[in-house]
Amino acid sequence: MSVSEAFLKELPKCEHHLHLEGTLEPDLLFPLAARNNVTLPDNFPKTVEELNAKYSSFADLQDFLNYYYIGTNVLITEQDFFDLAWAYFTKVSSQGLVHAEVFYDPQSHTERGISLETVTNGFSRACKRAQEELGISSRLIMCLLRHIEPSACLDLVKTAAPLIKDGTIHGLGLDSAEKPFPPELFTECYSEAKSFNPNLQLTAHAGEEGPAQYVSNALDLLKVTRIDHGINSVQDTELLKRLARERILLTVCPLSNVKLQVVQAVKELPLQQLIDNDVPFSLNSDDPAYFGGYILDNYLQVARDFPHWDYSIWAKIATNAVQGSWIDDKRKQDI
Ligand code: ADE
Ligand code: ZN
Repeated sequence: MSVSEAFLKELPKCEHHLHLEGTLEPDLLFPLAARNNVTLPDNFPKTVEELNAKYSSFADLQDFLNYYYIGTNVLITEQDFFDLAWAYFTKVSSQGLVHAEVFYDPQSHTERGISLETVTNGFSRACKRAQEELGISSRLIMCLLRHIEPSACLDLVKTAAPLIKDGTIHGLGLDSAEKPFPPELFTECYSEAKSFNPNLQLTAHAGEEGPAQYVSNALDLLKVTRIDHGINSVQDTELLKRLARERILLTVCPLSNVKLQVVQAVKELPLQQLIDNDVPFSLNSDDPAYFGGYILDNYLQVARDFPHWDYSIWAKIATNAVQGSWIDDKRKQDI
């Protein structure tokens, strides 16, 4: 590789695609299950080693999600949510992370009787402490689970209205099983959420396993200004031109795409094509506890698989990540 590891470590990095529930490491999952008397399914791995071994390969997105949702069951109290997010921030503070826009999935908790406030307060407290003690700025993005009925998703949006209005929830996202649940199902959820606060930022997972059409539909119907994953956009050259023209950031997740068999190796990702078409993208970790690496690990793997990229390309990636962040100009300059 033509840039050094030290350079990539020091490079100021912004994370735009990180599910806080996806940072639940096996060595926190089992203690939380014990602390909260949560019984895991009979066929669930029994030790940290066994669970890590299971995480070494997933058949596809759904196979991973099955484990991910079992994991969320061990999170019960506000302190649990705080502990999870704080563990994440302390880990990445040594990886050159300066800004994080993080997803959370309230419905994976509210469906178990845990309130939106409990979840949000715990995560929000960790975000504040990360700013104060680690200098990491952050934004919370509430995701709708697309396998849940749109009408129930609309109920969540309405429940979240006060948190959207006061800016605690800075963005709205859409995740979970993609292919059977296209973006257009959630048009009303997005417009309703935006009506609560015109400054609410909108994004959606699209073009991870789903086709380029889902990316176009998310832009046209949900009115998102960012696309999570989005790598299947390369199927449509007109769409690529549009992404470049409208400066739509794709939040690409290299290690995730390999672990979920979207591609067989990072070098197969169409990153050079995105660069050649001037489509902005950032590099992200998605669910690092499940996919074997945090933000720096993703940068390093890309550098190994795109060894000809020089400092100017990396500077461009870092700059696009800052420019595509939902922060004001002053913070952009500080970074
Ligand atoms: N939830 C957590 N990680 C996800 C991913 N990569 N795609 C869709 N939903 C998710
Ligand atoms: Zn994701």
